[in-house]
Amino acid sequence: MTVQFHYAIRPATVRDAPVIARHRVAMFTEMGHVPGDELASQLLAASTSALESRLQDCTYVGRLAVGPGEQVLAGAGVHVRPQLPRMSSTGKSITTGPVPLLVNVYTEPQWRGRGVARALVRALMRWTADQGFDHMVLHASDAGRPLYVSLGFAATNEMRWSPWLSSSVEQPC
Ligand SMILES: CC(C)(COP(=O)(O)OP(=O)(O)OC[C@H]1O[C@@H](n2cnc3c(N)ncnc32)[C@H](O)[C@@H]1OP(=O)(O)O)[C@@H](O)C(=O)NCCC(=O)NCCS
Repeated sequence: MTVQFHYAIRPATVRDAPVIARHRVAMFTEMGHVPGDELASQLLAASTSALESRLQDCTYVGRLAVGPGEQVLAGAGVHVRPQLPRMSSTGKSITTGPVPLLVNVYTEPQWRGRGVARALVRALMRWTADQGFDHMVLHASDAGRPLYVSLGFAATNEMRWSPWLSSSVEQPC
């Protein structure tokens, strides 16, 4: 039997903070980063309030895929973060503005494999280009990497260090 599948993509509003926070916790949990229900609840509460403020001041821009009855099937967002002045991606000018970080890409399990995440990421790529940003960044999960590669995202030279993994700690500011 073929199940009818219709959805629309709409911008997220402040009222969507709880569902986006739930996607965020589910995403990190599926990635194996949230050990236990207590930490999941804390992350949910902290994410809900952080998203409310960032949706309010437009430093978070979200898109949601909604089915009949406004049921949310999937979501994705961009967190617009300040950066120091640098060369632009073309290497021909100086750029000083913030950089959009793609976050909270999540499709409810029963709606996966139907192109919904692809449509949401494409919508945010269009938004990024329309706003005049010269690039967008993200940290890919194993599940998400094939999608981003197929959309033209390239791996960068980012590295990571944590004080608690090292015995030598430099003088902090
Ligand atoms: C990753 C995720 C968002 C994909 O959502 P989705 O709506 O199923 O994705 P789409 O149907 O748009 O598929 C896009 C691409 O993802 C890849 N993909 C999707 N499902 C896949 C699967 N089960 N196995 C391997 N690749 C898969 C394919 O490259 C696919 O492209 P194709 O349709 O041309 O084959 C979803 O699996 C998810 O929410 N995972 C848990 C949270 C997560 O890891 N989010 C990404 C954080 S960076």
